Amino acid sequence: MCGVVGYVGTRNAVDTIISGLSKLEYRGYDSAGVAVPDNGDFLIVRAVGKLDNLRKALKDVKTTATAGIGHTRWATHGKPSETNAHPHKSTHIALVHNGIIENFSELKTELLGLGYKFSSDTDTEVLAHLTEEYYKTNSLLEAVRLTAARARGSYALTVMSAREPDKIVATRRDAPLLIGIGSGEYMAASDIPAALDITRDFIRLEENDLAELTRTGVKLVNKDGRDVHREPFHVDWEPEMAEKGGFDTFMLKEIYEQPRTIVDTMRGKIVPDEGKVFFGEFDGLVPSIDKLERIVLLGCGTSWHSSLLGKLFIEKYAHISVEVDTASEFSHRELPLNKNVLVIGVSQSGETADTRNALRLARARGAVIAAICNVVGSSISSEADYVIYTHAGPEISVASTKAFTSQALTLFLLALWLGEKREKVDSKTTSGLLLDLLRIPDKIKQLLDNKDEIKRIAEIYKDTKNFMYIGRNFTCPIALEGALKLKEISYIHAEAYPAGELKHGPIALLDDSFPVMIFAPDIKVQEKIFSNMQEVKARGAKVIGVFSERNRANFPACENQIFIPDCDKEEMTTFLTTIVAQLFAYYSAQALDKDVDKPRNLAKSVTVE
Ligand code: M6R
Repeated sequence: MCGVVGYVGTRNAVDTIISGLSKLEYRGYDSAGVAVPDNGDFLIVRAVGKLDNLRKALKDVKTTATAGIGHTRWATHGKPSETNAHPHKSTHIALVHNGIIENFSELKTELLGLGYKFSSDTDTEVLAHLTEEYYKTNSLLEAVRLTAARARGSYALTVMSAREPDKIVATRRDAPLLIGIGSGEYMAASDIPAALDITRDFIRLEENDLAELTRTGVKLVNKDGRDVHREPFHVDWEPEMAEKGGFDTFMLKEIYEQPRTIVDTMRGKIVPDEGKVFFGEFDGLVPSIDKLERIVLLGCGTSWHSSLLGKLFIEKYAHISVEVDTASEFSHRELPLNKNVLVIGVSQSGETADTRNALRLARARGAVIAAICNVVGSSISSEADYVIYTHAGPEISVASTKAFTSQALTLFLLALWLGEKREKVDSKTTSGLLLDLLRIPDKIKQLLDNKDEIKRIAEIYKDTKNFMYIGRNFTCPIALEGALKLKEISYIHAEAYPAGELKHGPIALLDDSFPVMIFAPDIKVQEKIFSNMQEVKARGAKVIGVFSERNRANFPACENQIFIPDCDKEEMTTFLTTIVAQLFAYYSAQALDKDVDKPRNLAKSVTVE
């Protein structure tokens, strides 16, 4: 789970690569490195820790190279160290790798037998030496192709030879890699933002494709070495969309983007006055919708939580049973599936290995496969039969925020669309819901304008060691998501439970050092959750209650209250309580001076199982 870059063009390669890597640090940041050709050899600079350390190490390095490769690492084999950092080198070859080479021991034994010396503990180094070996009698492109054919596992590679300083070879299998097409300059990179400085036109390499990049163009071949054509696509992301845009952190910027991303997610999908929802992407499913037995939603982390919300939406409006599972556990189940079961993978990155593999398994068992993804052209979206993009724009912060609200909204609209196709929801109901939905972006803005109150409360609790989050019905997934956010970025231990479950065990934990955040905005479950609040208070726990404005006059006494704007429909409160949970976690982490965008031990895109 790393970021790789390869650049050839007219700009200073080191600067261009570092700029590209800075957009990929979300993929891993325990070490980084660059290699550029240097008088028949390579100049390689590597540093442990975040990219800034590499920048410092490069401060006095002078090079005019206009081609090179770079890497930001999330360790899988070998601890983070300078020798384990990429690029790895053999005599003429330098190479960077994202992925895992499963048969590296076997290849290493073979290469040791041929006299190659190893200097790292990584699985990657075998690829450098094996390419060197094949390069003795083949072109660079062919040498990489032969090497890739010997490797088991996953890889995105960018490779250079010191003998051909104007050429990059790139290839991928089960790991993302795109080619950015500029004018006289090209970049292979793990993700789009890395290349936005030079282009908005991209080619997505298909599994096992190889690309040879020179200043005159890109040659593509498949795993058999045959020329192939891949259709370029254009993205309309502005480079600054991948930058912080004036905010201290990407996470805060992404929280603040939600009034816009919500609009972008529903753009072109709804006609509120007529109570209509359009999902052209799923039209192919329409003939078999009546035969649908059930839906299975799969995701990890935040995407699992949005799937839990999706279940509530779909069951309520489309009257179809929905199962939700974490993708990693789904792969162990022997769940009977058939062509009347729709399995939907939910993933921001579209690269999460657990989700991708669970979907492959579901397909092998005969289910119809769909995906809800944010990243266009990602692996999961390429493999699914049907894809809906959430259009939340690039999410850089490791802690997911805007992707969650966009996924939840997509699932909500899907519920209404399915409900209409199955004649379970009428256009009047849909119209009422959509009109309420249209008011959500302004309500989010109102909440964001009142962020200081949430910040003040977060600062009160910053030294707390443990937190409990509870909710009921639509706020239950929000409790889970809120607790995950708090854990991820502030490292405060947080548990989340359906409020009714507290008394079945977890309440034993509570005392005056264990505060409870209670999400109680919606009228339907309020009475029950207010009783849960009394149970909590009776154990001495402090309560932060998240209520609707309309309850300001009669909310039950508790230590702190956060009010969200009123919504007509209870489902809509989910988008607002989510913002409270995100801001609370954000300001808790900030009060503790944590690196909010790059929490310890995590990576943005988890491309290993
Ligand atoms: O890209 P995906 O949505 O598939 O990622 C799934 C999880 O890895 C991700 O949501 C993770 O839990 C985030 N760190 C949550 O903030």
